[in-house]
Amino acid sequence: MAKTDFLTINDLSQPALFKVLQLAHSLKKDYQAREFTRSLSQHVLAMIFEKSSTRTRVSFEAGMTQLGGSAIFLSPHDTQLGRGEPLEDTARVLSEMVSAVLIRTDDHKKLVRFANAATIPVINGLSDSCHPCQLLADIQTMQDVFGDVQGLKVAWIGDGNNVCHSYLEAAGIFGFELIIATPPGYEPAAEWIDQANGNVVFVDSPQDAARHAHVITTDVWASMGQEDETDERLNAFDGYQITPELLDLAADNACFLHCLPAHEGEEIAPNLFSDPRTHTVWAQAGNRLHAQKALLEYLIIG
Ligand code: CP
Ligand code: NVA
Repeated sequence: MAKTDFLTINDLSQPALFKVLQLAHSLKKDYQAREFTRSLSQHVLAMIFEKSSTRTRVSFEAGMTQLGGSAIFLSPHDTQLGRGEPLEDTARVLSEMVSAVLIRTDDHKKLVRFANAATIPVINGLSDSCHPCQLLADIQTMQDVFGDVQGLKVAWIGDGNNVCHSYLEAAGIFGFELIIATPPGYEPAAEWIDQANGNVVFVDSPQDAARHAHVITTDVWASMGQEDETDERLNAFDGYQITPELLDLAADNACFLHCLPAHEGEEIAPNLFSDPRTHTVWAQAGNRLHAQKALLEYLIIG
């Protein structure tokens, strides 16, 4: 059977994505009831992290353990990858030993090369281009709150970055309306805008994006690898901070999402997380576990 990768959301068909999300909700209920299956018993996930992570690393490792399998954390610094062993050779070797590989990298092309050489599923754990696993959890969270995501107004306020790219892709697949407010020069890339299939609107201010939105979401202003641009970005994003007053403009039942980690005083106001409207961010982080367990089951055993 041909393997399936998850480098972008579109690697799975729409029915497959709905199947994974349905399984994610079911696995969440099982988790809350402390009921665990051993569906991935004896399966091993290798996880290559070129960049830092808390949520992605812990959710994948805990997820594999809860499904009866295990995960191995690999850093380029202490594997032969860091000493120049070709990616393709590593992909072929790991394909002989484990059931799937997760990679977090600052170069999406490396993910594609790895996936092309591997004979097992390869999962994108965040690249410079996109963050598809985050969107699985975010869609699950929107379904938890609203039931159906089709027709929701989702406001992206801030940087048109990797996470924003996956929001564009998700808008095209799941049929929500994405309203984007970014400072000039920080818009998402054109090829990702195309992925939204017309379900995207660009507005001139955070207020215009937030008005009547069901979901308000943002991300850091300087992503990992952009630390040198922090001062420049702090200036450019002045006025784009998510504040309680901005949330007041949203629909009555609106919720706030943030992939985390968050920076208080930058993209979110100090103490924003004491506002109950933002408390969905903790369930959103928790859904990383459930959505990715479902993804792992789908990719590894079908
Ligand atoms: N949201 C997210 O991917 O978090 P980590 O960087 O902690 O994995
Ligand atoms: N845009 C952020 C997301 C972190 C989960 C980054 O790439 O650093």
